Amino acid sequence: MAGDQHSAFGDLLRRHRLVAGLSQQALAERAGISVDAVAALERGRRRSPRAFTVRVLADTLGLGQAQLEQLVEVAKATAGGQRGRAPRAPAPVTPLVGRAAERDAVAALLRQDGYRLVTLTGPGGVGKTQLALAVARRVADDFPDGIGWAPLALLDGADALTQAVASAFGVREKPGNAVLDSLTEQIAARDQLLVLDNCEHLASACAALVDRLLAEVAGLRVLATSRERLRLAAEVVRPVTSLPVPRGRHRDDLEHSPAAHLFVQRARQLVPYFEIAPGDEPALVRICQELDGLPLAIELAAARS
Ligand SMILES: Nc1ncnc2c1ncn2[C@@H]1O[C@H](COP(=O)(O)OP(=O)(O)OP(=O)(O)O)[C@@H](O)[C@H]1O
Ligand SMILES: [Mg+2]
Repeated sequence: MAGDQHSAFGDLLRRHRLVAGLSQQALAERAGISVDAVAALERGRRRSPRAFTVRVLADTLGLGQAQLEQLVEVAKATAGGQRGRAPRAPAPVTPLVGRAAERDAVAALLRQDGYRLVTLTGPGGVGKTQLALAVARRVADDFPDGIGWAPLALLDGADALTQAVASAFGVREKPGNAVLDSLTEQIAARDQLLVLDNCEHLASACAALVDRLLAEVAGLRVLATSRERLRLAAEVVRPVTSLPVPRGRHRDDLEHSPAAHLFVQRARQLVPYFEIAPGDEPALVRICQELDGLPLAIELAAARS
C-alpha cells in the first residue's frame, strides 16, 4: 500500500473542505463519491482525479469559477508527474466513419459516476473495436492515469487474460505475488479505463476478472467489446449495429449513408481520387444493401472493386 505522499491537489482540496466546514464523510456523501476516494485524494494516494470528479467536488464545496479553475490546474499539475508513464490506447489507423453520436454517448456513460462497465456487443465485423478505439480517444483526458488496452482476440485462458490486463497497465509483477494481486495492488489508487477488446471467446474469464477488479479498484471503469455480453450486474450493454445504408438510389442518398462513405473511403485507399461515376449510384446502393451495411464486408467489397 502506498503511504501518504501529500499532493498539491490533496492539500488544496483539504483546505477548501475545512473552509466549507465539512468532514470527509459529509463531502463524500454530498458529492456522491466514496469517502475512501476523498481520503485518498487528500492524502495524495490518488494523484489524478478525473475531470468529472474535480467538477463535482468544486460544485459541492460551492467554489467560484476562479477557485474551480485553480483546482483544475492543480489537479493537472499533480497528475503531471505520472503522465509520462500513463498507458494509452492505440490510435485508430483509419478514421471513424459515421457513429459520432454512438461514440459520444458511450464516452458520456464512461464519464458518469455509476456506470463502471460498458459492453459494446454485436456480430463480427460490425465495428465494435473501431468504435471502442474512438471512444478511448474521446475520454483520454478524463483518465489521466491512463487507459489500458488489452487485445484479447488471440489469447487463450484466464491466466493469459490476467497477464494481458497487467501488461496493458504496465504493471510489474512482484516476486512471490500472483499476477492478479500485483495488478490490483498497483492500480488500486488509480482512476483508469480498461478496454477489453474481443472478449467473446473468454467471456466467463473476463466476467470473473472484471467483477473482481471493479470490486477492488474503486476508480476503475471498463469498456469491453464482445459478440456476447458479459452478464455482470454492473454491465451496461450498447449494441453496435451495421452502418446505415443509402435509403434511395440517388447521389444525395449516398452522401447521407455512412456505409457508402466507408466504401468510397476504402476504394480511395487503392485507387487515388476514386469517385462514383454518374450512373453508378444504384450499383453502390445495391452493394451496401446486399451487405447489410456490415463494415468488414463493405471493406472487402471495396478492395475488390
Ligand atoms: N465506423 C467505422 N468507420 C470506419 N471503419 C470501420 C467502422 N466500423 C468498422 N470499420 C472497419 O471495419 C472492419 C471491422 O471492424 P471491427 O474490427 O471494429 O469489427 P468488430 O465488431 O470489432 O469485429 P470482431 O467481432 O470480429 O472483432 C475494420 O477494418 C474496421 O476498421
Ligand atoms: Mg473486434
